[in-house]
Amino acid sequence: MECNPLCQELTSFRVMDVLERASELERQGRHIIHLEIGEPDFPTPAAVKAAAVAAIEAGHTHYTHSLGIPELREAIADHYHQEYGVVVDPERILVTPGTSPAMLLVFSLMLRPGQRVILTDPCYACYPNFLRFAGAVPHFVPLRPEAGFQLDVAAVREVLPDVAGILINSPANPTGVVLESRALKELADLGITVFSDEIYHGLVYTGRARSMLEFTDDCFVFNGFSKRYAMTGWRLGYVIAPERYVERLRTMQQNFFLCTSSIAQWAGVAALTQTAAEVEHMRAVYDERRHYLIARLQQLGFGIGVEPTGAFYVFADARHWTEDSVGFAFDVLERAGVGVAPGVDFGPSGEGFLRFSYANSVEHLEEGMLRLERYLAERRA
Ligand SMILES: Cc1ncc(COP(=O)(O)O)c(C=O)c1O
Repeated sequence: MECNPLCQELTSFRVMDVLERASELERQGRHIIHLEIGEPDFPTPAAVKAAAVAAIEAGHTHYTHSLGIPELREAIADHYHQEYGVVVDPERILVTPGTSPAMLLVFSLMLRPGQRVILTDPCYACYPNFLRFAGAVPHFVPLRPEAGFQLDVAAVREVLPDVAGILINSPANPTGVVLESRALKELADLGITVFSDEIYHGLVYTGRARSMLEFTDDCFVFNGFSKRYAMTGWRLGYVIAPERYVERLRTMQQNFFLCTSSIAQWAGVAALTQTAAEVEHMRAVYDERRHYLIARLQQLGFGIGVEPTGAFYVFADARHWTEDSVGFAFDVLERAGVGVAPGVDFGPSGEGFLRFSYANSVEHLEEGMLRLERYLAERRA
């Protein structure tokens, strides 16, 4: 039996190849500094773990309402009200096993074969695959390093009308860029569906990230607990959808996932209501690392045109060393023992760049930079 051609089109993530090779080297006894992974190194906050244990002990171990437990949906609505001043009816929120399944449901619901959806280039490497799997066609709008990787809405306008929507991500993976509010406002006025992935909200170091909901109610907002609350393994996310689509999303969830883990959902209530101090601590520590990493990479000769102010990534220009980011990343891994993500993983405009994650301790960052310095000196010699 032949596989579904839509699955055959899915591309794999080169950074996973880097990670797998790094694990092989570790099995052979090499010590590797992992700057390729976009995963918080902090433990999940204590109150979240305690809430999960309490949920198990209280017997919250069964299917929940398919949209999610009311307590969590209300806490999410309160969170959006407190952070952005927007009023969200909890009835518009669907809780999912991570942000990724929310995207799968929404794109399956909203997109038809052949429809074009705008993505930025570079962007999170899974986005094009989500769209292709829904039968849609990604249309890339390049982001220029000289423009600080900001989205040029004029370039978006040029590809209209024949476009179903745009998927944005601010703060962005891999660039760490926070979109200007002017751009969000202009996107809201374009008359196409805006899908806004807000998973890195809360990890912003200067200024603040604005929610798409501050500019229009007629959009889909994805968010989750993986990054801000260091809860990647809990698999908890959600989508805030326009009211008219919720019933269909609910039917899809009922059929495909039934509901999200009851335990993770109770943990999510605690994350939103009891972790302000810990979340602020993590943010402050990321910010220290960010300053360190930017300065050190610049000292080593990497180009960082505009300071990244969100998420936990620095997208560094290595084009005066290489036009082959995959080859360079593997060479750095083999010879220096440092894992980094090749820029081309995130789109053709990322070629010649490397993504460094600072979701790692300052000690590891220091050691990684020392190894990189030696590697570059050898390379020059
Ligand atoms: C931009 C972006 N969106 C979504 C995800 C996946 O999030 P989740 O763990 O909630 O599925 C990631 C993970 O790296 C990401 O970088």
